[in-house]
Amino acid sequence: MQLNETQVLVKETARQFAAEMLAPTADQRDEREEFPTEAVKKLGELGFMGMMVPEEFGGAGLDAISYVLAMEEISRVDASCGVIMSVNNSLVCYGLSEYGTPEQKEKYLKPLASGKMLGAFALSEPEAGSDASNQRTTATIDGDAYVLNGTKNWITNGYNADIVIVIAATKPSAGVHGISAFIVEKGLPGFTIGKKERKLGIRSSDTVSLSFEDVRVPATNRIGEDGFGFKFAMRTLDGGRIGIAAQALGIAQGCLDASIKYAKERKAFDKPIAELQAIQFKIADMATEIEAARGLVYSAAQMKDRGEKFSKAAAMAKLHASRTAVHSALDAIQIHGGYGYIREYHVERYLRDAKITEIYEGTSEIQRLVIARDLLRG
Ligand code: CAA
Repeated sequence: MQLNETQVLVKETARQFAAEMLAPTADQRDEREEFPTEAVKKLGELGFMGMMVPEEFGGAGLDAISYVLAMEEISRVDASCGVIMSVNNSLVCYGLSEYGTPEQKEKYLKPLASGKMLGAFALSEPEAGSDASNQRTTATIDGDAYVLNGTKNWITNGYNADIVIVIAATKPSAGVHGISAFIVEKGLPGFTIGKKERKLGIRSSDTVSLSFEDVRVPATNRIGEDGFGFKFAMRTLDGGRIGIAAQALGIAQGCLDASIKYAKERKAFDKPIAELQAIQFKIADMATEIEAARGLVYSAAQMKDRGEKFSKAAAMAKLHASRTAVHSALDAIQIHGGYGYIREYHVERYLRDAKITEIYEGTSEIQRLVIARDLLRG
C-alpha cells in the first residue's frame, strides 16, 4: 500500500521512539513486570495515546492506517507497550469520542487522548469472557447516580488507569438490551483494585480484577442511552481487534527481523545458516504469512477509515495476524536454536507475548464465530 506523507512520518516516528525509548529496557521491564510509565508519558506527548481522536478533543486527528502503523512499530519492539496504547486508543478514547456527551469529552476524553490520563475497559467477568452478554455486574439507578456492584476480570491498564469504562447490567431481565456503559473514576468509595496478575507474557502491562461494592457513579457518566452498553462494547471491540491485529503483526515482524539478522551472523557447517535451505524456507514462509497479515490489517483499517462496516474484516485480521505472530515466534526460536530458548535474544519473549493475541479482545474461536455469522447471515 502506498502511504501518504503523514502516514510515513507516523511510522518513522514510532520506529524511532521504539528503538530509543523501548528497545534498551523492554527485556528488563518484562523480567521485573514493570509498567513503562515514562514511555507511556512520552507516547502521550507524541499524540499516540489518542491517535484517531479529533484535535479539538486533545487527539492527533489521524486515520486508522496511521494508528496501525504506529501499533505495529511499537509492538515490533515491545508488545506490552503496544497493548497499553491499544486499550487507551481503541477501547477507551474511541467510545468517548464517538458516543460521549460534550461534558464527558471535555472532562475525560481530552486528558485521555493527550496522555494526561490513562484509561481501561472493563467488560470481562469471572463468568462473562467469550460469553460477554452474561453480565453479572449490576448498575441500579438511585436518584442522580447509578450504584455499581460486581467484579470485572482481566482488566488491562486497570492498576494504572485513572478512569475505567465499565459495562454493567442496568436491567438484567432485558438481556443484551439491558446493559449500559459507564465512566468510573478511580478512588470512588467501594471501588477496589485486585492484585496484579502474574502472566506468561505482556508482563510489563498490568492486568487486574476490579471490584465494585455499592459504588455511586453519577448518572451523567453513563455513555449513550440506557441499554446501549452491549452494542457499545461490540462496536468498541471491532476497532480494538484491528489494534490487536496490528500488535500481533508487529510481534511477527520483530520475529522475522531477528531471524534474518541471526541467520546471517550464525555459522554452521562452515557457512552462515542463512545459506541453508531449511532456514531459508522458514524465513520465506514467515515473510509470506506476515505480508498476508499486513494486507488484512490495512484492509480492515481502510474500511474503518471509509466508514464501512468492518466487523468481519477486523475479525479476519485478528485471527490471521495472531496466528502468524505465534507461528513466527516459534519459527524464530527454532532458527535461533538453543539461543532462542534463552532470554538474551528476545525471541522467547516474543513467543510469550504473541500467545495472548489469540485470546484477548475475543479469542480466535470468537473471531471465527463473528466471521461465520457474517457470511451465513440470511
Ligand atoms: N456491532 C454492533 N452491534 C453488534 C455487534 C457489532 N459488532 N455484534 C453484535 N451486535 C449486536 C447484535 O446486532 C444484537 O443486537 P440486536 O439484539 O438488537 O439485534 C446484539 O448485539 C447481540 O448480538 P449477538 O446475539 O450476536 O450476541 P451474543 O451474545 O451471541 O455475543 C459475541 C456475540 C460475538 C460472542 C460477543 O459476546 C463477543 O464478542 N464475545 C467476545 C468478547 C470479547 O471480545 N471480550 C474481550 C474483552 S476486552 C479485552 O480483552 C481488552 C483487553 O484487556 C485487552
